[in-house]
Amino acid sequence: MFKTIGKGAAGAGLALLVVVGVNLYGDLLVPVGADQAVGPVGLTAASGPAAPEASFGAMLGAATAADGKKVAKKCLSCHTFDPGGPNKVGPNLANTVGADKGKKPGFAYSGAVAGLGGKWTYDDLNAFLTKPSAFAPGTKMTFAGLPKAKDRAAVIAYLASLTAAPPPFPAP
Ligand code: HEC
Repeated sequence: MFKTIGKGAAGAGLALLVVVGVNLYGDLLVPVGADQAVGPVGLTAASGPAAPEASFGAMLGAATAADGKKVAKKCLSCHTFDPGGPNKVGPNLANTVGADKGKKPGFAYSGAVAGLGGKWTYDDLNAFLTKPSAFAPGTKMTFAGLPKAKDRAAVIAYLASLTAAPPPFPAP
């Protein structure tokens, strides 16, 4: 008698588990379905001349300084970001966007970065931060780079937020 009740309870428990499981699975199916709906759009973009990824301008527009501040933790061993902050292993990075490359006062740049010439445009910052040693061979910024475009967009949006009069973002 006792045994039978026990079995019955276990059976009910199992049934409940199955129901919960099916519900969870059903929930999981929703985002998968949504992804699939996006699929054809991505395929169209990939087969055409346009890049399948969002443009850098679009990523910059979508990025927030708060996201960039998180990514910038990777830079803090060498850089300060706040306006008026000190140079460390690398120069203070406030007011960098649109500024002359390798010309922050009081910092001893390598010849590689001091000799780059021109100003830090969004595109040049994007290229430099992808792989500093490729953009400025011989640079003393011994940082491998940020491989994810989204991380670069975020940290560059953060740099723009710390620039007194940042140039407008490139068109999406
Ligand atoms: C290991 C130390 C180190 C790390 C980590 C590092 N940097 Fe640098 N950075 C430097 C040094 C050193 C320089 C000067 C390079 C030179 O003179 O060759 C520099 C230069 C720069 C410049 C050029 C500044 C100018 O005035 O022209 C930018 C922009 C920059 N870093 C951004 C970043 C960002 C953003 C990060 C994090 C994602 C980062 N760095 C991480 C050391 C570092």
